[in-house]
Amino acid sequence: MQDALARLRDETLAQIEAAIRLDEIEAARVAVLGRKGSLKQAMRQLKDVAPDERPAMGQLANEVKTAIVEALDARRKLIERAETQATDAAFDITLPGIHRPLGHEHPLRRTEAELREVFARLGFEVAEGPEVELEYYNFEALNIPADHPARDGFDTFYIEGDVVLRSHTSPVQIRVMEQRQPPIRVVVPGRVYRPDTPDATHSPVFHQIEGLVVGEGVTFADLKAVLTMAMRELFGPDTATRFRPSFFPFTEPSAEVDVSYAVNGEKRWLELLGAGMVHPKVFEAVGYDAERYTGFAFGMGIDRVAMLKYGIPDIRLFFENDVRFLEQF
Ligand code: PHE
Repeated sequence: MQDALARLRDETLAQIEAAIRLDEIEAARVAVLGRKGSLKQAMRQLKDVAPDERPAMGQLANEVKTAIVEALDARRKLIERAETQATDAAFDITLPGIHRPLGHEHPLRRTEAELREVFARLGFEVAEGPEVELEYYNFEALNIPADHPARDGFDTFYIEGDVVLRSHTSPVQIRVMEQRQPPIRVVVPGRVYRPDTPDATHSPVFHQIEGLVVGEGVTFADLKAVLTMAMRELFGPDTATRFRPSFFPFTEPSAEVDVSYAVNGEKRWLELLGAGMVHPKVFEAVGYDAERYTGFAFGMGIDRVAMLKYGIPDIRLFFENDVRFLEQF
């Protein structure tokens, strides 16, 4: 009988341990403790046990019953708690999570960062200047006289009096040279403004990166080398540059610089920069000795670089803040 009770206890406890639903617990309870349950059945053997062993057997049977009742109780509570948690919405781990979209850098900012990096590797530091600028810095100091067509209301946003939104980053050339002496090697990224009607290639606000190098013995060959290297860094080692003679009041000689790119294997040119040797009149305006120092300057459209790099057909896409466009970068 002792063995039978021990087996009954072990089997029943294992069964309870395996139960995952309340009805399984109830079934186990009825099967063991019920009126016709297996424990009642085992108790009937008590009459066959030698009288002096009966008290010990009776006590063992009671211990088995207590162990089973306690196990049933503990298991039932555990299953009940799990069921209430599963039906409570706050605990429903099967619900999809809340999607929190991650922002990222605007393609123009990324292009600007890349340009800064390329020029940093060529030894340039970064300078900045105001977007709301005095006419003097935007024009006069750059050898653009009052009757020059660039000062027309069609070419510039006037704030009031002699205050304008800068139409290029070149005024920062003057601000840098006023502050310090050569050697100078800076790039100036920033926003510029022109009252252009928006279309695929024009926007009243766009971005430039200005470059200025001043020192003794700086030549046009240095300008070509720096720009050719920078363009290869930006667009790949096979990139060609083309310098066309041009005119800017603040450089002499001046050039417009085109960059080659391929469309379906066919070579095309895109105008990307204005550049040239700093005009002696500009050195005069900042008090530099034009006999001693020479320098070169360039101004590049950042938006154009980004359009070329990413194959973007319309400059307006940069400024519309349509996330369906921006998400692609
Ligand atoms: N500032 C000129 C422009 O906006 C570009 C330029 C910069 C040209 C420096 C020569 C030297 O068109």
